[in-house]
Amino acid sequence: MFQPLAGRYEWTNRVLTFGLDRSWRRRVVARVVDGPVRSVLDVGTGTGEVALALARRGGDGLQVTAVDFSEAMLAVARAKPGADCVRWVLAPATNLPFDDAQFDAAIVAFALRNLSVTREHLLACLRELRRVLRPCGRLFTVETSQPPRKAVRGILHLYARWWVPMVGWILTGQSGPYRYLGTSIRAFYDAETLARAMLEAGFSNARFDRLTWGLVAIHVATR
Ligand SMILES: C[S@@+](CC[C@H](N)C(=O)[O-])C[C@H]1O[C@@H](n2cnc3c(N)ncnc32)[C@H](O)[C@@H]1O
Repeated sequence: MFQPLAGRYEWTNRVLTFGLDRSWRRRVVARVVDGPVRSVLDVGTGTGEVALALARRGGDGLQVTAVDFSEAMLAVARAKPGADCVRWVLAPATNLPFDDAQFDAAIVAFALRNLSVTREHLLACLRELRRVLRPCGRLFTVETSQPPRKAVRGILHLYARWWVPMVGWILTGQSGPYRYLGTSIRAFYDAETLARAMLEAGFSNARFDRLTWGLVAIHVATR
């Protein structure tokens, strides 16, 4: 699904979120580098915005590895300035090509919805992320969420149902992926349920912060 969108992926995100997606990513990147972290894994890296921001913020002391299963998305990432500082890996999130306990931190930015087609799928991905984290390593996720206030949730669902497919179609000429995006936003877990799934997958201390009236949540859990 992401292959044909790769070239316009970032531009479409900017328009769909009125530019807010950048500040959401910045917030989670700041949380990751704000600790004794020497190696970090970015799963579902897409065009590499988070991986490259981590490499910039972490400097020489931080080794950044970024995984995605879409060649086209990785090709956009690899062509960016500073891409040499990141190790790019083509692989599925459910079968990461790394030994156990390799990373101090892992991050999933706006890819968890794609990894949660079923609850079992979500748990399998979370267990795989836990496997490659060192003991006490931390998982960070930033993802759309279900706002606790009914009125805000209602607006989000209308936006996801009508605005996302329409704007996606206008900007990319493709309606299918943006209908799917809208559906997945409406169907995704609320912050409490996602935190419980992290605990079920073996993490401890799963916490979350809501951003922008709860439209998005950052979760942090410890292996
Ligand atoms: C919505 S994009 C998010 C990209 C990026 N993290 C960001 O912040 O914009 C989701 C990405 O996850 C990747 N992805 C989806 N399912 C995957 C899987 N099972 N294994 C690896 N990558 C996956 C897609 O190819 C896509 O690049």
